[in-house]
Amino acid sequence: MSTDTCTVRLTGLRKSYRVGEASVEALKGVSLDVRSGEMVALTGPSGSGKSTLLNLCGLIDTPDAGSRELGGIVIDGLDELGLTRLRREQVGFIFQGFNLVPVMTVFDNVEYPLMLLGMPAGERKEKTMTALQRVGLETFARRLPDALSGGQRQRVAIARALVKSPALVIADEPTANLDSTTARQIVDLLHELAHERNASVVVATHDERMSSHCDRVLHLIDGELQ
Ligand SMILES: Nc1ncnc2c1ncn2[C@@H]1O[C@H](COP(=O)(O)OP(=O)(O)O)[C@@H](O)[C@H]1O
Ligand SMILES: [Mg+2]
Repeated sequence: MSTDTCTVRLTGLRKSYRVGEASVEALKGVSLDVRSGEMVALTGPSGSGKSTLLNLCGLIDTPDAGSRELGGIVIDGLDELGLTRLRREQVGFIFQGFNLVPVMTVFDNVEYPLMLLGMPAGERKEKTMTALQRVGLETFARRLPDALSGGQRQRVAIARALVKSPALVIADEPTANLDSTTARQIVDLLHELAHERNASVVVATHDERMSSHCDRVLHLIDGELQ
C-alpha cells in the first residue's frame, strides 16, 4: 500500500471574471491531485489560467464551481475564518514580484507569518533565523528589502514561505527575471522543500530551468489542463 498522502485535491474547478458586461472564463473545469513531497510545474501561455489556478489552490480565491481539499480537509464547508486559518497554517506563497513589505526588515518580513499564527517570540526568532540561514541570508536580517538584489529578495520570500513548514507551497513564476545562478538556487530550494520536507510544491513557470526539475509538468491551455 502506498504511504503517499494527497495534500491537494482539486476537482472540476471553474472560475470566471467579470470584465464590464463581459465574462472571461479563466478555468473551465480543472481537476488536479498533488501528493506530499511532489513538485509540480504548471506551464502554459500567458492568460491560460495559471495564476487563477494557483490562487484557488492556495485558498486566496474562491471557485465558481468544483471542490477543493487540502490535507484531507474539505475546503468548501469552511467559513472565512476557517479558510484564513488553514491558509495561514498550511500554505506558503512565493510570487514573481516577491511581495515583501518594504518598510519591514528582512527578519520582520520572514517572521510575519509566525506572528499571524500567534507563536511566542522566542520560538519565532529561532524559526526565523533558521529559515534565513537556509536561504543563506542570515547576515542580511536587519536590512530592508530595498538594499537587496532581486535574487536575494526572492530568497527572503522563500524563507518567508518555508518558515512555518507549510504543507503546500505555491510559487507563481518565481524565477522570472532572475539570472541563471539565482534561478538555480530558487529551483534547489523548492526542490528541497518538496523532497526533504515533504511539502507539495506547485509552481507556475515559463522557465525550462524550473520545469525540468519538477516531478510532473502540466500544461494549461485556455483554462483547461491538457
Ligand atoms: N482579476 C481579473 N479580472 C479579470 N480578468 C482576469 C483577472 N485575472 C485574470 N483574468 C483573466 O483570466 C484569464 C487567466 O488569467 P491568469 O490566471 O492570470 O493566467 P496566467 O497566469 O496563465 O497568465 C486571462 O484571460 C486573464 O485576462
Ligand atoms: Mg500568471
